[in-house]
Amino acid sequence: MSEREVVTATAIRVRKRAAGAEPIAMITAYDEPFGRLVDAAGVDVILVGDTLAEIVLGHEDTLHVGMEEMVHHVAAVSRARPSALLVGDLPWLSYHLEPTEAVRNAARIVRAGAAAVKLEGGRRRLPAVEAILSAEIPVMGHLGLTPQSIHAMGGYRVQGRQLEAARELLEDAKALAAAGCFAVVLEGVPEVLAAKVTAELPIPTIGIGAGPACDGQVLVIHDLLGMSKRPAPKFVRRYGEVGEIVTAAVARYCADVRAGDFPSDAESYHGSKELVAGLGEL
Ligand code: KIV
Repeated sequence: MSEREVVTATAIRVRKRAAGAEPIAMITAYDEPFGRLVDAAGVDVILVGDTLAEIVLGHEDTLHVGMEEMVHHVAAVSRARPSALLVGDLPWLSYHLEPTEAVRNAARIVRAGAAAVKLEGGRRRLPAVEAILSAEIPVMGHLGLTPQSIHAMGGYRVQGRQLEAARELLEDAKALAAAGCFAVVLEGVPEVLAAKVTAELPIPTIGIGAGPACDGQVLVIHDLLGMSKRPAPKFVRRYGEVGEIVTAAVARYCADVRAGDFPSDAESYHGSKELVAGLGEL
């Protein structure tokens, strides 16, 4: 575990830039090594996102992970014992039916090691949001381009471009804040709308493809590190070419093995004199 003070949902709730707070840095992670590395880098929030489906498990969209996979990967990241707030995504259909089922699923994410859950949608999801909050589990909202709605949206499209859609999104954001969410992710919305929502909400907005005015930013770690197979959307800034580093390193390993250069004497265990002398008798 890192030496930093543990970040809580309560501490994130008051991180409004308008009140002088530093912007919130949030990033995804899906396993223990990345949980440990991003925590050491000092992120405020680690999200075990349902992008797990695409980024780690190779599916085409996020509709292909369920509770089992999410619980498995939240537990893996939590073994890094991060100081950052660990948030687990509720996957599609885990909170759309009965509020009691939403609470049970949120509790599974918490028992796996998260301190909060995130779910997509606005006023239509209030029964689930309220039920989960009433079980004392902090909830992060997610509005705009919500990937679990890919079929309903007709594809991955920037949301809230027209005035009426922008008004609906603002009302959804206000409803989530009034219900008690501690923060809301704004994905794929015009920067002016994100700025308006950020100014109107008493809780932080965390943007992804939502411009610079949000109270925080989130990116998918594999996009940022150059490890994704999917084409990077324009809002992704590459901070490394780790994919190229991995391929080059493994290519050198293959070459060494094939040339008989690996392992060397120093990389081998040696037998005792007795073992060496007696091997012929075996
Ligand atoms: O699942 C995810 O990774 C997310 C982020 C992109 C916000 O929801």
